[in-house]
Amino acid sequence: MKPISIAIDGPAAAGKSTVAKIIAAKLSYVYIDTGAMYRALTFAGQRTGVDLNNENELVEILQSINISFENTAFGQNVLINGEDVTEIIRTPEVTNEVSIVAKHRLVREEMVRRQQELGSKGGVVMDGRDIGTHVLPNAEVKIFLLASVEERAQRRHAENLSKNFPSDLVQLQREIAKRDQLDSERAVSPLRKAADAIELDTTSLSIDEVVDKIMDIAVKKLAK
Ligand code: CDP
Ligand code: CDP
Repeated sequence: MKPISIAIDGPAAAGKSTVAKIIAAKLSYVYIDTGAMYRALTFAGQRTGVDLNNENELVEILQSINISFENTAFGQNVLINGEDVTEIIRTPEVTNEVSIVAKHRLVREEMVRRQQELGSKGGVVMDGRDIGTHVLPNAEVKIFLLASVEERAQRRHAENLSKNFPSDLVQLQREIAKRDQLDSERAVSPLRKAADAIELDTTSLSIDEVVDKIMDIAVKKLAK
């Protein structure tokens, strides 16, 4: 069976990476977390001390780093020039500034180029904000995952508490809403549902229910 490409987009904490990883495992496909690439660049910029509003400086940093993924028994690691940054790119410091980095046109052009290269052979499940619209416009399956902002904040809150991280539900909701606004209103490839994407509101769905729905769609495409 010819491998297909599956694009999963949507706002923060809609469940994209959770379901994308499960679907990739079920199909023996490669999972590509494009958000992790923007997070890695944000962390690299912060560590170097550049102004994240300075597009040219960020592009220079991006050109000097290789961002790669490594699958382990415990999940997927994210590496910058071979250094494991999996945990540190999820801190609130990175999360709250990543949308500044992701608004720059030249940064996005280079990220999209790298993401298209990673997805060039098909057999990928890629999640992000612009996968169906820009990165993989010909993906056979395009999903746009949604959930209310209250539910998304609650999910992140539960996740934080399960890891014993400090967590404030009201603050999380505010931060998620702010990031959604920046991602949806930026000039370059804003967060949008592709015209041919299937919208799935997951507010009252379990992870398994979401996975089943997407798998049904993928299996039908594979059978064609
Ligand atoms: O996991 P979460 O939804 O919180 O975020 P993420 O997928 O790790 O993405 C982090 C940020 O990177 C987003 O808020 C966007 O600003 C940016 N991003 C993007 O602009 N385009 C993508 N394809 C993926 C992420
Ligand atoms: O990648 P994205 O930011 O869209 O979300 P995520 O990190 O995959 O999911 C955020 C949290 O919501 C995780 O703790 C999931 O276990 C949980 N969750 C979900 O993803 N989907 C549901 N239908 C219910 C809960």
